[in-house]
Amino acid sequence: MQKFTFYNPTKLYFGKGQLTNLSDEITKYGENILLVYGGGSIKRNGLYDQVTQILHKAGKKIFELSGVEPNPRVTTARKGIEICKKEQIDFILAVGGGSTIDCTKAIAVGAKSETDIWDIVTKKETANGALDFGTVLTLAATGSEMNSGSVITNWETNEKHGWGSPYSFPTFSILDPDFTKTVPKDQTIYGMVDIMSHALEHYFHHEENTLLQDRMVEGILKTVIETAPKLLEDLKNTDHRETILYNGTMALNGMVNMGYHGDWATHNLEHAVSAVHDIPHGGGLAILFPNWMKYAIDENVGRFKQLAIRVFDVDPEGKSDKEIGLEGIDKLRDFWNSIDAPSTLGDYGITDDSIDVMADKTVIAKSEFGNFKKLNRADAIAIYKASL
Ligand code: NZQ
Ligand code: ZN
Repeated sequence: MQKFTFYNPTKLYFGKGQLTNLSDEITKYGENILLVYGGGSIKRNGLYDQVTQILHKAGKKIFELSGVEPNPRVTTARKGIEICKKEQIDFILAVGGGSTIDCTKAIAVGAKSETDIWDIVTKKETANGALDFGTVLTLAATGSEMNSGSVITNWETNEKHGWGSPYSFPTFSILDPDFTKTVPKDQTIYGMVDIMSHALEHYFHHEENTLLQDRMVEGILKTVIETAPKLLEDLKNTDHRETILYNGTMALNGMVNMGYHGDWATHNLEHAVSAVHDIPHGGGLAILFPNWMKYAIDENVGRFKQLAIRVFDVDPEGKSDKEIGLEGIDKLRDFWNSIDAPSTLGDYGITDDSIDVMADKTVIAKSEFGNFKKLNRADAIAIYKASL
């Protein structure tokens, strides 16, 4: 493995009843709080009332930014930045899924900057500070609750980019499985696909001697595979929600991928699809990942063979390494089909017509992408075509 420095300052409160810690945490900051949330799920499930009660009790003045979109938009982040500057906000509290948290990261950084946040998202400018912010997570998927990454969409230019900074880690995150029980079935599926996709992105690298890391990533994949069907049968089951919630955080908080860089081309391919068609992130990944895997298998067949045997229990007897690897990919596809994840771009009504424009989006930031297998625009077209 490569040498590495690990840094993650987010304080994690995990488990039933952990929201009570919000009272103590919030006393550390000034009076003006910006509460950021999405389209209203937290009002329907009662979490909004619980959170605002705690904030009122602590004597805070609450400002609100609601309506953060799934695939959050830069225009919404700009609104939040304006509120922060105008109202002299001291602390931002995000209550929601990855989109709400990602938007909050952009607001927190934008509030301390004179440049437009889109220039920071597109890396023309760098972040030089941020307002402190915390999160109450309501959906297991992105890991945004314990990482510094954020993904923002510009709907005017149809671009969706990931960015991050040392300032965009939440100071604390509160994760109670009960808050995820109202996540509908489709979003629960997308979330689990996203978690598995983060594990898969990690898994495909060329570094030697990552024995523990491999086992941890395989552990995430196996645990989600084992739990997903049970959770989908019983969406209110606390144990299963808790298992998936913990998996989501661990898959992308930096703990399982120390000492190597995963691939991440499939995320770039998916962000380009979402940028044009505004589809759910996990839905796009379910379509693209097996096709990327087939495209990339010759880069290092051994990784695919190991995954197939250890995670998908493929019997290697009498088969070539590539046959074993391909069988593993088929088993991943079968598993995602079995939980009703989408499998073709056609499932979202996406046709051949938009492949060129999506491929253009994959190479806006760089002409090549992917660490395990370098891809260019032509490769993106081939993978999209295989995904139709
Ligand atoms: O907006 P509300 O009304 O809250 O409804 C949301 C939204 O419609 C709903 N939801 C969330 N919690 C709920 C709930 N509904 C009922 N009960 C609850 N408890 O679910 C819908 C989707 O929410 P969203 O936040 O968009 O989902 P997710 O957490 O999957 O976030 C997706 C975004 O994160 C980015 C994706 O690209 C996408 O933009 N990603 C962020 C990453 C990061 N920051 O590290 C990494 C990921 O790979 C990903 O790219
Ligand atoms: Zn993801």
